[in-house]
Amino acid sequence: MTEGRGLFITFEGGDGSGKSTQMRLLAERLRREGRQAIETVEPGGTRIGDQIRRILLDSRNQDLRATPELLLYFASRAQNVEELILPALERGAIVLSDRFTDSSMAYQGYGRGLGDEAVLALDRIACHGLEPDLTLLIDIDHETSIGRARARQLSPSETRMDEQAAEFHARVRQAYLKMAEREPRRFRTIDGQADPETVALAVWEAVNPLVSRLHV
Ligand code: TMP
Repeated sequence: MTEGRGLFITFEGGDGSGKSTQMRLLAERLRREGRQAIETVEPGGTRIGDQIRRILLDSRNQDLRATPELLLYFASRAQNVEELILPALERGAIVLSDRFTDSSMAYQGYGRGLGDEAVLALDRIACHGLEPDLTLLIDIDHETSIGRARARQLSPSETRMDEQAAEFHARVRQAYLKMAEREPRRFRTIDGQADPETVALAVWEAVNPLVSRLHV
């Protein structure tokens, strides 16, 4: 945790892992405890980021190549970091982000095979040295992921990613698990198959020690 600033917590996981619900529940709990919690999402989080998100998730954009896709995710992230995340951390807030650079590592670096060097190089440019204090990996297996995505019946413009091959999603999950193993101090892997209340409790147990050390 960097001295004199808030807390940066990211949520990661495959599509349908329930991480967005968990992030909302955590934000509500933090606010009940009198903490300033700011929520953001990637791609998106800002007006510019929302426009980039529409390009990335539009099912008509099947011809979007892997490299420009990676650059767009980082364009959205750079705007989010400069406009929203860093100023909020400066004010001492707890910033919760639904995905961050680990998503690009898992989906583009490993899933699409672009490699970790490209992702790390862009992270250095876009994130100004910002790293999450804690990353909650909400892990679910492939069948659960597909089942939940179908149940959500996403609009056609939001389904580009969900149409990707099962093999791609398996690579993404393995990448996440490997990343969590490599950085055990930053990552907490949480079983996302459990009911939302149980998952929320595990999230809180991971977050609470860091929050109690904040003096705001
Ligand atoms: P969401 O389902 O969490 O809203 O995320 C949207 C999709 O964008 C999801 O399939 C994962 C993908 N994604 C990447 O491929 N790379 C990234 O860097 C980010 C932030 C998201």
